[in-house]
Amino acid sequence: MKEIAPSILSADFCNLGEQLKALKKEGMEFVHIDVMDGHFVPNITIGPLVCNSIKKNFPDLKLDVHLMIENPMRYIDAFAESNPYIIYFHLEAERHADRLINYIKSKGVKAGISINPATPVSLLEHVLPIVDSVLVMSVNPGFGGQSFIPYTLNKIKLLNNIRRAQNYNFFIAVDGGVNSENIEEISRLGCNLFIAGSSVFKGNIVENFKKLNKTVKGK
Ligand code: DX5
Ligand code: ZN
Repeated sequence: MKEIAPSILSADFCNLGEQLKALKKEGMEFVHIDVMDGHFVPNITIGPLVCNSIKKNFPDLKLDVHLMIENPMRYIDAFAESNPYIIYFHLEAERHADRLINYIKSKGVKAGISINPATPVSLLEHVLPIVDSVLVMSVNPGFGGQSFIPYTLNKIKLLNNIRRAQNYNFFIAVDGGVNSENIEEISRLGCNLFIAGSSVFKGNIVENFKKLNKTVKGK
């Protein structure tokens, strides 16, 4: 799989429906939703109400829900209500990663685990066989529009090598500072899902999406 997941963190919230409609027309399948609680990260953003509304208006969009919150277990039921494609939580926010992965799956939702730039891939060793996705943060979470941190490329490469060697099934997602200049290299290293906020929503959103999509799909 090679897909772009536009992150609505950088969208025009007074115009969200129109922007999603325009992107969907160009083949967008995933929409990335950044949930921030003002504790795990300094910013406060979107909650389950917005997820429900997007799902109601765009039932066939795959919601890619990125929880950047403390105590994620407490909110899984609320976010599962909108029937998302996947819910990611942060390893740094959860002491019982195995339990939470299984709980998300018990709701019929794919379970993803996300790691901050400074968190090593090795900490995921024992959950890699059971997660549906690993989301590599390529900026420190909290805000859109930051620059891609180059050393995170090695983490993508490492995950791809482990996946190949062990025959695991998780897909690799990358989030933060992804743009038309670096997306090709990120793709070559084995990334499957490219989360892009400002590089889609700043300027001509349709042209931005088309360009990124074309690069990763090679057509
Ligand atoms: C950052 C969020 C990202 C953010 C990416 O904490 O998790 O999803 O929207 O924005 P850009 O693509 O602008 O770096
Ligand atoms: Zn995100």
